[in-house]
Amino acid sequence: MTDVASSLEALAKRLAAAVEAANDEQALEAARVRYLGRNGEVTAIRRSIGRLAPADRPGAGKTINDAVAAMERVLDERRAGLAARDVEAALAHRIDVTFPAQPPALGTIHPIRRVIDDACAYFERHGFAVVLGPEVEPDYYNFDALNIPPGHPAREGFDSFWIDDTLLLRPHTSPMQIRTMQMHKPPIAIVAPGRCYRRDAVDARHLFQFHQIEGLLVDRGIHFGHLKGMLTGLCRTLFGAYQEVRFRPSYFPFTEPSAEVDTTCPKCTGHASACSMCGGSGWIELGGAGMVHPNVLREVGYDADAVCGWAFGFGAERLALVRYDVDDIRRFVDSDPDFLEQLGTIS
Ligand code: DAH
Repeated sequence: MTDVASSLEALAKRLAAAVEAANDEQALEAARVRYLGRNGEVTAIRRSIGRLAPADRPGAGKTINDAVAAMERVLDERRAGLAARDVEAALAHRIDVTFPAQPPALGTIHPIRRVIDDACAYFERHGFAVVLGPEVEPDYYNFDALNIPPGHPAREGFDSFWIDDTLLLRPHTSPMQIRTMQMHKPPIAIVAPGRCYRRDAVDARHLFQFHQIEGLLVDRGIHFGHLKGMLTGLCRTLFGAYQEVRFRPSYFPFTEPSAEVDTTCPKCTGHASACSMCGGSGWIELGGAGMVHPNVLREVGYDADAVCGWAFGFGAERLALVRYDVDDIRRFVDSDPDFLEQLGTIS
């Protein structure tokens, strides 16, 4: 290596150390002046070229130019690094008042609440009143008054939480039929949403605490056609404009005749043989309904020859499973914020 090259190499090392140590723009500039300035160390080396043999001078000149370029790069890089550091530090201490604010975390309306609210709003638009009642009921309201006397096998169907010999957590909202009719003369037009309890093992289709929506219409000349019309309207409100409703013969002690109510599957509309919602049948069961049994009307003091009525009881979770295409009822009670935010609305 030539003398020029070796002294440049040593110089570049010292410059690199000085640059590394420079903690601000001034210190960096001082290092630059010392090594690359007009009276700096590189200039001294450049002058020494004059003492070389003429043939060696161009090579030495190029070596110096290359070394200077490399040293300038080192300086530039450090300068950029220091500038970025300064910007970052300045930003860290600055409040940008034009920056969009973090949106506050808002709750959403639970899907069960939405279904109940929408169903009640639909009935209210048709002149029904929304009534609420106790979740702890005497067996009289739960069973006896609904034409289910002690010893009636239908009592077994309601696997209830008993509090003592006569009090229980209501297993259905039907007691509200009796409470309403006892307090008011016909005509009656109510919906009664609320919590119910049954000793069911929890799985994808059952909860021991769930919700029902009860409906009751009593007046002169009420018939099954009114029921079908109202329930078809309800399904179209909740699930879509093309829903149909069908009745299948069934049995409940408090209605005669009684029916299971199905609606067309809103997911496949009856066209998918392997539909996850309806199993390919094209129909989905929503709950029970029927014409109020004359014994029930007589129990509350109504003239069963003069007035008649219909009633229905639907599971709110059932309606929500169908409406939101959810496959497991437990998702409604897991409190998973992602699930709730996805299905929820603010208002
Ligand atoms: N209470 C019934 C149950 O929980 C559902 C029901 C069926 C309610 C028929 C009614 C009705 O009002 O008319 O299984």
